[in-house]
Amino acid sequence: MTKSPIIVALDFPSLHATKIFLERFEGESMFVKVGMELYYQEGPKIIDFIKEQGHDIFLDLKLHDIPNTVYSAMKGLARLGVDLVNVHAYGGSEMMRRAVQGLEDGKPNGMARPLCIAVTQLTSTSEMQLKEEAHVDLPLAEMVEKQAALAFQSGLDGVVCSPLESKRLKEMISPSFLTVTPGIRPSGTNHGDQKRVTTPSDAKKFKASYMVVGRPITKAANPAEAYQMIKKEWEETAQ
Ligand code: C5P
Repeated sequence: MTKSPIIVALDFPSLHATKIFLERFEGESMFVKVGMELYYQEGPKIIDFIKEQGHDIFLDLKLHDIPNTVYSAMKGLARLGVDLVNVHAYGGSEMMRRAVQGLEDGKPNGMARPLCIAVTQLTSTSEMQLKEEAHVDLPLAEMVEKQAALAFQSGLDGVVCSPLESKRLKEMISPSFLTVTPGIRPSGTNHGDQKRVTTPSDAKKFKASYMVVGRPITKAANPAEAYQMIKKEWEETAQ
């Protein structure tokens, strides 16, 4: 992996739109995220296309099913040669262990197992929803900590979380536990629908392993320049 700290969220509806966007980054080896929108439209050929361009891929499909189904699905995703995938921690420890096993069993010969991280609570989940609908009496922050610890015990490599939770989770679990953090907005830019946002510099101070950045790059007048500015802000910040 290139280990670029920026994961660019390719929230596009088609391979065509993705292609036009990536043409602006010729010569740059990036780490990109393919989510449900793009993958469900284009299928595995979008992965082949992006790999041909030399980019690393986080395939963000958030699997959540019975352990055997997740095992088989992960085996197939590993064959695609992606670098990072994820599951919902709500699926439980057995499902998470089987996810990692599927990745191990499916990875092409000579390639590293794709990393696997857990989604704890979606940022769209409120304290009220957790209590009234999921019937969880724990405060949201405590629930996130418990789910992250369970993910670690189940052999996962990290979690998706807010940069604001990153430092605490690393201290609590392990410095090598990956924290992949969305909700990044360079200072002076539009926040869109993200409510709790963090600058690239603060994300690094909070020990985020990777930042997921979508619209500040994809909707910028000059996406390549926006990417370089974010990269520079990260690199110039001491951790
Ligand atoms: O455009 P923006 O930078 O807000 O995009 C962030 C990306 O991270 C989107 O693809 C979004 O789906 C994803 N994401 C998020 N919050 C989470 C998990 C994923 O914003 N908790």
